[in-house]
Amino acid sequence: MKTVILIGAQGKMGQAALTGLGNHKVITAGRSVEGYDYQVDITNEASVRNLFKTIGEFDAVVNTVGVCEYASFAEMTQEQWMTTVMSKMMGQINLVRIGQEYIADNGSFTLITGILNVKPIPFAIADATTSGAIDTFVKCVAYEMPRGIRINSINPTVLEEAWDVYGEMMPGFQPVPSVLVGKAFERSVDSFITGEVIFVDA
Ligand SMILES: NC(=O)c1ccc[n+]([C@@H]2O[C@H](COP(=O)([O-])OP(=O)(O)OC[C@H]3O[C@@H](n4cnc5c(N)ncnc54)[C@H](OP(=O)(O)O)[C@@H]3O)[C@@H](O)[C@H]2O)c1
Repeated sequence: MKTVILIGAQGKMGQAALTGLGNHKVITAGRSVEGYDYQVDITNEASVRNLFKTIGEFDAVVNTVGVCEYASFAEMTQEQWMTTVMSKMMGQINLVRIGQEYIADNGSFTLITGILNVKPIPFAIADATTSGAIDTFVKCVAYEMPRGIRINSINPTVLEEAWDVYGEMMPGFQPVPSVLVGKAFERSVDSFITGEVIFVDA
């Protein structure tokens, strides 16, 4: 049994990840005060450091947070770009940059991306761009991870549980059940793979 910090556990992707972490002690963290073991804002370096320092000993970090703004490229403002970059890109990079100081030997990081960087749709340029950045980040930073630490990203298509929100934006896409995406998180945490983008598509 590993101690796994699951960030964003109350979100749709967090719930999907949870289905794959049943063999482990899961410590939940998120932005809200209610419902989590610990509070963290992944866009705030001090908050991220405080989370890892307070928990102290852990074997894996699974992040399912990455707030994205949606607009056409022509209309997307710098502020909207920066919201997405600071959450889905820098927020996740900071979790690894700071977390690697605290995580156990042979620990693992699992980050979230999303299929839109390989199957683009209108209005999702910031999500697609930052997902692509994180997929590249995990492939390359895996070579620099010390102490046997592994890192992977999960790149799923839309969840069945989120189809009512995103379905209209995504004609021709087939949603997948959360439990299937949970398997990808399980494989990242429990296997020996590193530097991989684990795609879950229908
Ligand atoms: N849903 C899908 O079908 C799907 C498919 C592929 C990829 N993804 C990706 O998965 C990620 C999560 O999507 P989702 O559908 O799970 O979103 P969601 O249901 O809206 O959940 C987002 C979670 O992130 C937390 N959060 C937001 N900002 C935070 C911050 N600064 N620090 C800590 N926690 C924060 C929220 O916490 P609070 O509850 O406390 O506000 C919430 O629990 C996104 O990057 C999305 O692109 C989603």
